Amino acid sequence: MQRLIYAIFALAAIVALVAVSQSPGTKQVPYQDTFRSWTHVKTLVIRPGHPLYDGFGGIHHVYANNKALGVLKAGSGKFPDGSVLVFDLFEASDKDNAIGEGKRKVTAVMVKNSKYYTETGGWGFEAFEGGDRTKRVVKDPVKDCYTCHTGQAHRDYVFSQWRP
Ligand code: HEC
Repeated sequence: MQRLIYAIFALAAIVALVAVSQSPGTKQVPYQDTFRSWTHVKTLVIRPGHPLYDGFGGIHHVYANNKALGVLKAGSGKFPDGSVLVFDLFEASDKDNAIGEGKRKVTAVMVKNSKYYTETGGWGFEAFEGGDRTKRVVKDPVKDCYTCHTGQAHRDYVFSQWRP
């Protein structure tokens, strides 16, 4: 009998753990190991004087995994769960009339999971300082990221557009 009670408690604990890990908004956005092998979508240099210079000054590249790429290429539509977009930002070095990449500043990630990230349009937002998987930057995904991306609600919160 005692064994049975222990077993029931153990089971209840597991169920509770699973429930917590899957409740909306609590799932951590994973660092993306392989994004450098994904499809490059675009590159942009943001220079002093641009309104986003303080947060995003430098040179950045946007990457999409295959799931996200389908929607980008179609030009519209809802990104399916499992879609991932990466914004990889570097300092821009302006030398000898050439602009090149300096140090990596931040690697920002958007992961689509409409079950987890219900408060931020179905996207999980995270950013990793210096591209370091252990240095998470986002404190409040709504304030830090989502609010600005809501300007793109008609494109499922994504700014970047595909060009052939
Ligand atoms: C002030 C507005 C603003 C804020 C705040 C912001 N972003 Fe963005 N984000 C943009 C813009 C504009 C682009 C498109 C850049 C381009 O066209 O090259 C973008 C692009 C991206 C992309 C590539 C996909 C896309 O939408 O084009 C990712 C990933 C991304 N942001 C993640 C984040 C994360 C994570 C945060 C929070 C740490 C964040 N962003 C905060 C404006 C913002």
